[in-house]
Amino acid sequence: MKEVTYEGLTFEPYITRETIDARVKELGKEIVRDCAGKTPLFICVLNGAFPFASDLFRACEDIDAEIAFIRLKSYEGTGSTGVVKEMLGLSENIEGRTVIVIEDIVDTGHTIARLTETLQAKNPADIKVATLLFKPEALEEDVKPDYVGFVIPKKFIIGFGLDLNGRARNLNDIYVLKENA
Ligand code: IMP
Ligand code: MG
Repeated sequence: MKEVTYEGLTFEPYITRETIDARVKELGKEIVRDCAGKTPLFICVLNGAFPFASDLFRACEDIDAEIAFIRLKSYEGTGSTGVVKEMLGLSENIEGRTVIVIEDIVDTGHTIARLTETLQAKNPADIKVATLLFKPEALEEDVKPDYVGFVIPKKFIIGFGLDLNGRARNLNDIYVLKENA
C-alpha cells in the first residue's frame, strides 16, 4: 500500500481492508447475539457509512433484519461545521422497533446526538449505534456508541466511505493524513 494525495494533502496507509473485514465480522456476531429474536431496522447514515453498512448488514445474516438509509452532512473539508443538516428523511415507521444506526465515524458526536434525538421522538423500542470508527478525544456530546470497530486518535482519515470533500470514498483501505507533510 502506498501514500495517496487529494487536494494537495498526503495520506498514508492506516487500517487495511483485511483488518476492517475481520473486525466487521466480529461486530456482526455481537449484533446477532444481542438481537436474537428481534427484527432490527438498520439505518445507514449516508454518504460515508455505505461500505461499512453493506458489510455489517451482511455479517448479520443470522438475524431477520431490514435496512433503511438517511442522508446527513456536517463536515466541510477536514473539519466539522458543528451543524448537522438532514438531507433525506426516514420514511419507515420505527415505533416499537429496535433500531441500529450505522455510522462511518463518531467524531464530535453532534451527528449521532441530533440523529438519536430525532429518532427517539418516533418512539422506537431501542436505539443502538454501530460505528466503524470512534475518536473519543474529539467528542463534544454525551454519546457512547454501542458497537465500535476501531477507536482512533483525533486525526483526519479517508477511505472505505470516508471522504475529503466527496473524494476518496472508494479507497478499499483507510488512510490517515500525514502530519507536517
Ligand atoms: P460528528 O458529527 O462530528 O461526530 O461527525 C460525524 C461525521 O463527520 C461523520 O459521519 C463523517 O462524515 C465526518 N467525519 C468525522 N471525522 C472524519 C474524518 O476523519 N474523515 C472524514 N470524515 C469525517
Ligand atoms: Mg458521515
